[in-house]
Amino acid sequence: MPVSLKTSDEVEKMRVAGRLAAEVLDYIEPRVRAGVSTAQLNDLCHAYMVEVQGTIPAPLNYAPPGYKPFPKSICTSVNHQVCHGIPGDRVLKTGDILNIDVTVIKDGYHGDSSRMYFVGEPSIQARRLVDATYACMWRGIEQVRPGARLGDIGAAIQGCAESHGYSVVREFCGHGIGRRFHEEPQVLHYGRPGTGMALEPGMTFTIEPMINAGKAAIRELADGWTIVTKDHSLSAQWEHTVLVTDRGYEVMTLSAGAPPPPPSMA
Ligand code: MF3
Ligand code: CO
Ligand code: CO
Repeated sequence: MPVSLKTSDEVEKMRVAGRLAAEVLDYIEPRVRAGVSTAQLNDLCHAYMVEVQGTIPAPLNYAPPGYKPFPKSICTSVNHQVCHGIPGDRVLKTGDILNIDVTVIKDGYHGDSSRMYFVGEPSIQARRLVDATYACMWRGIEQVRPGARLGDIGAAIQGCAESHGYSVVREFCGHGIGRRFHEEPQVLHYGRPGTGMALEPGMTFTIEPMINAGKAAIRELADGWTIVTKDHSLSAQWEHTVLVTDRGYEVMTLSAGAPPPPPSMA
């Protein structure tokens, strides 16, 4: 399948789906507390999506080739979990860091975003990793404009991560998004400037770097989904869905509670 360029009608639907995904992340924020299980967070988000928003949680029963169906409606990845954590009985405790990844379907279109949350006060190292990963995502986003290359995005993210002494997870990447959850192109979070596909207005894709405090290597748990760092170092991830506009980019997954761009972009 080639890269789809969204029409203005499709862009409008993507804006709605993107905002709704972000609003789930807003909704859950005050509920991320010590003593809460990741399954409880899942159930709250599920009810909000289905009953309040009228959206479909895209992860539920999602089964790409080679995977068993994902059993829950959001991904919750704690501490050294990199991504695709399955909500369950794990109870959050003070000092944990958590990624919540939400993908909704509204009117046939997907919106995909994730944020990091702190349970109580994080360690200095955890806060530094989370803040740096957020800056790296925005470094990637600010490359987006017609004529830029996918490699420009990857190089900006990689340079940002490595300047902090962190490493970029290689096995998972951002992705085109629209009628399908994962479309072309693949948006790598590492690379060389001036390489790769040229961006065109109407493309919609995610930028979702996974950054490890230690080495880049990962492994998959026996549940068939959860990805963890091999060295058990902390990992962080942020994700936005973006549109390539005539002049640059539009972030499609903003909401009232979305954190502002980092100070480095002011
Ligand atoms: N939302 C994830 C992404 O950003 C994908 C999760 S797939 C799932 O691409 F099945 F684990 F939900
Ligand atoms: Co995504
Ligand atoms: Co996601």
